[in-house]
Amino acid sequence: MKKHIVAPGGELKGEFRVESDKSVTHRAFLISSLAAEPTRIINPLRGADTMATLQAVRDCGANVVEDEGAVTVGGGELHPPAGGEVDCGNAGTLMRLFCGVASGWNVPCRLTGDESLSSRPMRRVVNPLLKMGANISATPEGTPPVVVGKQQTLAGIAHDTGIASAQVKSALLLAGLRAKGETCVREPAPSRDHTERMLQAFGVNVRRGELFAAVEGGAKLRGGLELQVPADMSSAAFFMAAAAMTPGSDVLLTEVGVNPGRFGVVEILRQMGADVDILNARDFGGEPVADIRVFGGELHGLQIGAEQVPSAVDDLPMLMVAAASAEGETTLSGAGELRHKESDRLLAVADGLQALGAQCELREDGLTIRGGATFTGGEVNARGDHRIAMAFSMAALKADGEITINNCENVQTSFPSFVETAQEAGLRITAVE
Ligand code: S3P
Repeated sequence: MKKHIVAPGGELKGEFRVESDKSVTHRAFLISSLAAEPTRIINPLRGADTMATLQAVRDCGANVVEDEGAVTVGGGELHPPAGGEVDCGNAGTLMRLFCGVASGWNVPCRLTGDESLSSRPMRRVVNPLLKMGANISATPEGTPPVVVGKQQTLAGIAHDTGIASAQVKSALLLAGLRAKGETCVREPAPSRDHTERMLQAFGVNVRRGELFAAVEGGAKLRGGLELQVPADMSSAAFFMAAAAMTPGSDVLLTEVGVNPGRFGVVEILRQMGADVDILNARDFGGEPVADIRVFGGELHGLQIGAEQVPSAVDDLPMLMVAAASAEGETTLSGAGELRHKESDRLLAVADGLQALGAQCELREDGLTIRGGATFTGGEVNARGDHRIAMAFSMAALKADGEITINNCENVQTSFPSFVETAQEAGLRITAVE
């Protein structure tokens, strides 16, 4: 069992690039595999989650050529893997998007995952895919394995997701590429739109507005591109929030993807009083990219409502750690979705904060945090959740004793070099097997 042991104090300094974007890399591998011409993907994330996606498309017949800084994918005909099983590991994005890809195949296959993924809700994709005519099922509890059967002819639907979920939206759009007619997905609040942007880069006509996206069945994907993957905003988030809460810190994070559906963490930090500059804005194949400079200072608490959750959804654990050390109370509400991530993140954050002496009240859809804490040393259980492990590692910057975080092995799913990057930036962190 991997642990992080973090000595208290320090500050974060330096200019660096965190690892590449997990969401964009999953999509780059999957969408490239659907095109006839190979696409060169530069700087993909080589984390366990995205490597599971690469393995899945390779097992399903995509041509994959790896070299040092790039992976070229595409030019094969996708089909179910020999043995019929796609192992999605810990990766919810892979499983949900793959449901959309595999629906419409005429040969059965089974999508499986690790213990955490095997308890996550799949009806949100299975039910609309059934409406499209897919032969697909989850367990009676609505969890994996997901079984996709043969003889499926898909028809486009107009579907209201009821939750802001890019995974659900993306699964339906990918299925829609092979359905008869138009598939239109409407959501209650905008979620990240990496799939829509990437499909457009592959020449697909995506009809879209703030709260909907639609594709026509039969659209051809034009590969043969070079796609450059930006650094991951949700990996940068640990360094941004940790630097912002620690006076004396000054970090410049380069080449970060600043998709509007991911920008909530910057907005929330600014509302907490953080000094964050967005510099050198540019574009990587339809995705906005920038460098982000953050200076440390004193933060204050705030109220975060449901409307702010989707664009900061993966970054809320780190923001809650920052809020606990900020001045004044923070209330997070409308965040019930956090209970369905790699762990129940509301519970994991509440337990972790309490283990470090902070005052925190857990509610069904959120948290109330008293603020003003200097964390005590102590032990935190990351519950096998990469983002809980990284968020509580950063708490040591504002602690007066050593913090041990247990169950950190899954940091490799999204940010394999986290410990080294954090050490170089000034966190007094050691990883122990
Ligand atoms: C993701 C979408 C989000 C996010 C997840 C990655 C994606 O999940 O939490 O880490 O790449 O589409 P939901 O779609 O469930 O909101």
